[in-house]
Amino acid sequence: MNLVVVSNRVTRGNANEPVTGGLAAALLPIVEKSGAIWVGSSGRVRDGAQKEPFAEIEALGTGALAMLDLPAAHYGGYYEGFANSALWPALHSRADLIRVSRGDYLSYREVNAFMARALLRFKKPDTVFWVQDYHFLALGAELRELGLTQPIGFFLHTPWPARDVIEGVPHHRELVEAMLAYDLIGFQTEDDCENFASYASASLGLAIEDRVVMSRYGRTRIAVFPIGIDADKFARQAAKAVSHPDVSRLRRSLNGERLAIGVDRLDYSKGLVNRINAFDRMWTMQPQLARTVSLLQIATPSRGGIEAYGLLQSELARLVGEVNGRHGEVDWTPIRYLNKGFSQIVLSGLYRSAQVGVVTPLHDGMNLVAKEYVAAQNPADPGVLVLSKFAGAANELDTALLVNPHDIDGMARTIAVALSMPLPERRMRWEAMMSKLRHRSIQRWLSDYLDTLQQAQTERIETAQVAAEPPSAAEPPSPWQLRSVSSG
Ligand code: F6P
Repeated sequence: MNLVVVSNRVTRGNANEPVTGGLAAALLPIVEKSGAIWVGSSGRVRDGAQKEPFAEIEALGTGALAMLDLPAAHYGGYYEGFANSALWPALHSRADLIRVSRGDYLSYREVNAFMARALLRFKKPDTVFWVQDYHFLALGAELRELGLTQPIGFFLHTPWPARDVIEGVPHHRELVEAMLAYDLIGFQTEDDCENFASYASASLGLAIEDRVVMSRYGRTRIAVFPIGIDADKFARQAAKAVSHPDVSRLRRSLNGERLAIGVDRLDYSKGLVNRINAFDRMWTMQPQLARTVSLLQIATPSRGGIEAYGLLQSELARLVGEVNGRHGEVDWTPIRYLNKGFSQIVLSGLYRSAQVGVVTPLHDGMNLVAKEYVAAQNPADPGVLVLSKFAGAANELDTALLVNPHDIDGMARTIAVALSMPLPERRMRWEAMMSKLRHRSIQRWLSDYLDTLQQAQTERIETAQVAAEPPSAAEPPSPWQLRSVSSG
């Protein structure tokens, strides 16, 4: 099988370079080891009508990376517009933050169509296409329009919200109908999958049986594949990384003080304001914890051109300043707040240096930082994970200290509990989480998804054959050919 993976953001695979977001970090080892081609945006745009999409191709382990310059006229409307100012807020149940124009939607569709044309050059008879995330909801439909008959799967890294929230996205109907051109749609959690099914049946009036949605495209299977990490590899990396100069400097600077760590993209879904407020409350309610524990909060900026992100950045900077001003001392800064990205290697060492990991999003598809924090711990003296019950990771990491990120007092108390947890309890909780991480690895995510995709494609062909009159004995008809005949 030739695997072509598609996502908006790609990463070049240098372990010493900063990686933004879980998706890029998760896909990297897959491409390196499976020989897949990973196609995504180069981060640059190109003017004018491009006959042939321009792609820079470079080797990545046994696979390759193809980075495309996206069309300049549509990039803003696609990325900052429809993808991140309509879909992202809705997918994270923040319909109040939707800001979008019809032009943004058209640009989104243009970029999806552009990507489809660009992918044709990677098509071979045995190619399987695997599209990632909300930037490309309509890419499968565009590929079918171009006559592609190979299996095409889609995986959503974010949550899928309740029906009335997704209905807040202009053109939601067209978009979800287009999604049904995929053979398989994968979700992080059962709730996401259920929400999607409820939208398809109640809003689109489609029949769903045994997690197969029937539409004008034929059958689309929907299923849950919680994304994982390579926990043992991450653990080995973390053990080595403690001697990395950045990590050693941090450790020396602590002077015996304990450390809590948060690592997030600077995004309103991550619950950063509530988290800082919870630390503020903790130092107010338990002043004996001042000088004994500080927070290292890394908040990597992204999507800076969008108003909601700019406002959040200012609000956080002000809030951190206030909290440091309130609780700080001449020789103690309660919150070390950094607006930059770090490499996976340095991050793994920072996680291992922190007695508490705080991962408290208001809503998150999975959150791989939670998994990486656990994997990075020293088995003899592990730290404690404080985890939002609204992160997908909470389904598996249920021996973390689960919190409601809207309950500031509750979070403050839980962080204090984490700091005083005795070693036997820490070990018990950590071992339970680590065994789940090993069981649901990134390798398993890949193989479960691809096996189900192959199966979904086979079922689709079989169903199409049964429906066809008369069935062709020589070559099985493609469901796409049948669809275009039957739908006129
Ligand atoms: O969490 C969803 C997601 O698409 C990730 O999969 C990705 O790593 C992240 O958002 C990156 O966002 P951006 O590329 O807009 O900074």
